[in-house]
Amino acid sequence: MGEAANSVIAIYPGSFDPFTNGHLDLIQRSTHLFDKLVVSVLQNEEKKSLFSVEERLEMIRDSLPGSSHIEIDSFDGLLVDYATSKNASVILRGIRAISDYEYELQMALMNRRLQPNIETVFLMAREAYSFISSRQVKEVVGLGGNVTGLVPPAVEAKLKRKFQGA
Ligand code: PNS
Repeated sequence: MGEAANSVIAIYPGSFDPFTNGHLDLIQRSTHLFDKLVVSVLQNEEKKSLFSVEERLEMIRDSLPGSSHIEIDSFDGLLVDYATSKNASVILRGIRAISDYEYELQMALMNRRLQPNIETVFLMAREAYSFISSRQVKEVVGLGGNVTGLVPPAVEAKLKRKFQGA
């Protein structure tokens, strides 16, 4: 779809270290809500990550069907500045459990203070994925456990390579 003046562009930001089936499900469920979705990986040198930004972008590209509706990108600096540069009016975030709420509320309120024209929209994680976190996925694979079905195949392969040299 073209970027008409009234089209709604949403940013789906995150660390995606790594991308999980929970992230994928949220993207799939949001596609009919926005004219365009920009999935964007935070470039943050301070946050210790397992995968480089380039590796994370590659895993997201390999996990999503090509679509003119979805852009895959990375960003640094303030999220609201990046969203403005992309003409986005929405920040999309997923919420799994009540425990996510406080962090998400703080972020949404800070972002609204910084840029009142951008709304944060929350989608509830699907029940089947509400327990998945990137942190746990890394821990389980690091300890030799199986994460099949919790992450896309391209991510599972990269995790195995990273931890087991497979
Ligand atoms: O997947 P995550 O780690 O929960 O995503 C956090 C993210 C990337 C959304 C957040 O850290 C972020 O937006 N960082 C950019 C810096 C920023 O804008 N900070 C002010 C908002 S609190």
